[in-house]
Amino acid sequence: MIRNRRVVSRRTLLVGGLGLGVAGATVLAGCASGEAPEQTARLLPSAAPLPDRFSRPFAVPPVKRPTGKADGATRYEITQRAATVELLPGLRTEIMGYDGLLPGPTIKARRGERVIVRHRNELTVPTVTHLHGGHTPAASDGYPVDLVLPASGSYGHGHQSHTADGEITRGVRDYEYPHDQRAATLWYHDHRMDFTGPQVWRGLAGLHLITDDEEEALPLPGGDRDLPLLVMDRSFAADGSLAYPSLDPNLASIPGVIEDYSPGVLGDVVLVNGVPWPVLEVDAVRYRFRIVNASNARRYEFALDPPPPSGPAFVQVGSDGGLLAAPVEHNEIVAAPAERFDVVIDFAAYPVGTEVTMINKLGVGSTDAVLRFRVVRKAADDSAIPAKLSTIEPLRPGPDAPVREWRFIRERNEGRAHWRINGLDFDPGRMDAEPRLGEVEIWRFYSDLHHPVHVHLDPFQVIRRGNREQGRFDAGWKDTVDLRPWETVEVAVRFTDHAGRFVLHCHNLEHEDMMMMAAFRTLR
Ligand code: C2O
Ligand code: CU
Repeated sequence: MIRNRRVVSRRTLLVGGLGLGVAGATVLAGCASGEAPEQTARLLPSAAPLPDRFSRPFAVPPVKRPTGKADGATRYEITQRAATVELLPGLRTEIMGYDGLLPGPTIKARRGERVIVRHRNELTVPTVTHLHGGHTPAASDGYPVDLVLPASGSYGHGHQSHTADGEITRGVRDYEYPHDQRAATLWYHDHRMDFTGPQVWRGLAGLHLITDDEEEALPLPGGDRDLPLLVMDRSFAADGSLAYPSLDPNLASIPGVIEDYSPGVLGDVVLVNGVPWPVLEVDAVRYRFRIVNASNARRYEFALDPPPPSGPAFVQVGSDGGLLAAPVEHNEIVAAPAERFDVVIDFAAYPVGTEVTMINKLGVGSTDAVLRFRVVRKAADDSAIPAKLSTIEPLRPGPDAPVREWRFIRERNEGRAHWRINGLDFDPGRMDAEPRLGEVEIWRFYSDLHHPVHVHLDPFQVIRRGNREQGRFDAGWKDTVDLRPWETVEVAVRFTDHAGRFVLHCHNLEHEDMMMMAAFRTLR
């Protein structure tokens, strides 16, 4: 491993980059629409014709097979590479994918199972892999400057564009996951400093599911009635390529997007597990869906159309950090980027033959729906939703608990939007907090606009939203919380086990790339 301590001022780079704005200008042709309702982001319309909705079959990403077991660890190997896939019918799209797939293969693990994933970078850009929601040692958490350089040697350190003190490897890196955590729906994605937005947009995201004895003992729907819904919006150029308004389309040195898109990038095609607006035939029984909002910046409000004649549309059984203590009924679910909602839909409420669309009440035009279910037959159902799902220990901050404030506020700098926390740009060499392992702290998040705030290493519990105790979607263990304009959310958090450097950041990936991130070091 090579230690890199290059010091290049980030400010200089941004100013130097202004002239390159034209590089992305073609992407903008035909764009007239402004920011969408209840979004801090702007729509990038596709130039490619949009496909008919609800015509392609639902698909589930393949489950990754281990390469073997060694020293008590299950081993996997994933190759990050370019691939050409068909996302829109008749058009070819080049992606950057884990194993060349969009989304990447799903990793399934058990609580306590030690897993080592070897990532091989055969792309042309550096990558960093983060397991979102993972209780992961610092060295494997994907610190944004712990780059894996492309295996083919042409990419030198001269391309580093920031003050970096990361641990840099070339070609491969082993990420180690002890999985000392509850069953939960996690996902993994790229986390390269300054370039996470475009690299995830091009495909670097996949599911990572952890199960345990507690979850398996529950009578929740299982097998092929337990399905992921990894939802992401994307836009396509006329030739089928993914459109994204990068200042530097090569993702080599100039970070960020052209200024109109600095609030965030919205696509007009909704992909579910990589398929645009799929259709799924279901039995008239209960299904469990693990909804993951893997979009760069889009917030959704999911609902069913028609709503069930009786009963709630969704019964939520889990959130970011796994099972809730007890089920929560919803007719709508608002999901900000990176949030997960583990829900049960009971199709027995509908007559056979009904078509049920999962709609998005925050979408307009093509994005007002996500996928369609076709209730095709009656079937036996031995599943149930128990009134008690799990036990959640409430985190109780003591009277002397440390209180930390994090202000997520946009500022203007030389005409460009800078997304900052506490008035500061992200600096991977600067630690903004040093929490002690094992101690409950209060973290207070303030926002000016929509900011989905995500904390690495351990989940938290929302203890106050505005002047209420919790919002409707704050139940259970969370690792990402949806902050709305001028809102204050207070959470209780306790970091455990792993000492080292981690980050918190806005999970609107355009904000994250434009510096809305902070580092903290956990201390023993
Ligand atoms: Cu899902 Cu720091 O990321
Ligand atoms: Cu933000």
